[in-house]
Amino acid sequence: SQQQQQQQQPGTQRPSFGIAFDIDGVILRGRNPIGGSPQAIRRLYADDGTLKIPFIFLTNGGGVPESKRATELSGLLGVQISPLQVVQGHSPFRELVKRFENELVVAVGKGEPATVMSEYGFKKVLSIDEYASYFDDIDPLSQYKAWSSKQAYDKNHMPRESQLSYNVLSDSVKGAFVVSDPVDWGRDIQVLCDILRSGGIPGREKGHQPPLYFAADDLEYQAAFPCERLGMGAFRIALESIFNKIHSSPLEYISFGKPNPFAFKNAEAVLRQIVSKTYNTGNIMNEAKEHKFSTIYMIGDNPSVDIKGANKAGDPWFSVLTRTGVFRGKDNHTQFPANLVVETVEEAIDYILKKEL
Ligand code: G3P
Ligand code: MG
Repeated sequence: SQQQQQQQQPGTQRPSFGIAFDIDGVILRGRNPIGGSPQAIRRLYADDGTLKIPFIFLTNGGGVPESKRATELSGLLGVQISPLQVVQGHSPFRELVKRFENELVVAVGKGEPATVMSEYGFKKVLSIDEYASYFDDIDPLSQYKAWSSKQAYDKNHMPRESQLSYNVLSDSVKGAFVVSDPVDWGRDIQVLCDILRSGGIPGREKGHQPPLYFAADDLEYQAAFPCERLGMGAFRIALESIFNKIHSSPLEYISFGKPNPFAFKNAEAVLRQIVSKTYNTGNIMNEAKEHKFSTIYMIGDNPSVDIKGANKAGDPWFSVLTRTGVFRGKDNHTQFPANLVVETVEEAIDYILKKEL
């Protein structure tokens, strides 16, 4: 409305578009910024450092709380990124807290998977490292693993046995969450099979499979190595093939993350929230619901994840494929063609700002 427009600062007219950036293979390779990402991102801020264009990071990666990832990204890119702007593969696990709030759940993956879950509100969560440590001889290969003695299971965060109000060995695991890329595939597959086929207590008789959730299902992704690395989807295939050989009923699971349409619906809702916070006029919740984007750009490197998902999400999504990660083709991808193919994220931002401003 007119009144709302008057309340805004000069030059802060609400943009009708938003941007979602993939991280691995677009913004970073390993921990190194690529494709001119720091310059590109800086163009989305005003000279005084305030956000000018609503954007989020929409990554299938994770392993640390959104607040910590925001701080890391701020350091790497030289701008102020808020936790709200970081949507990771596991971010939707937050929505499952009601169902599992006081149940024992196991969190799998690199980084601090149990800290991530307890920040979402899960009260009885153990990392698979810590969980496995209670069961003597559960991993017959542990003595050959040079790292096992140093294994850090969210030490500073999670209580040790003496402080736990329950008995890990007899309490059944009610849910398993693969939060980030598993580190010790062999041990993790073994322990997950133990939990899932026993109905929640390793070594017990067979029982009903507890629910299993994956943050994403990427077969491969772009890290620091010159060619793709196996991702969470590859781990899922390994676990599933083995489980289905040793168990009478097939593995049941749910995968979140891109290309699941839910990830794009959620991203749109988060972008709307950012708009209402940035261009704060009147009732925030109503504003967030009302704001309609003419276009949301998904800038990604993986045709079967980022582009497939954005294309399937449809209006207002517009897919942009870079050549800095998984995709290196000369022309467009044949099976999942993007609306636009560019070399780098910098080129993508150039295109978007020329078109929109
Ligand atoms: O482990 C991270 C990988 O699966 C994908 O990350 O940022 O390319 O969605 P991203
Ligand atoms: Mg990527």
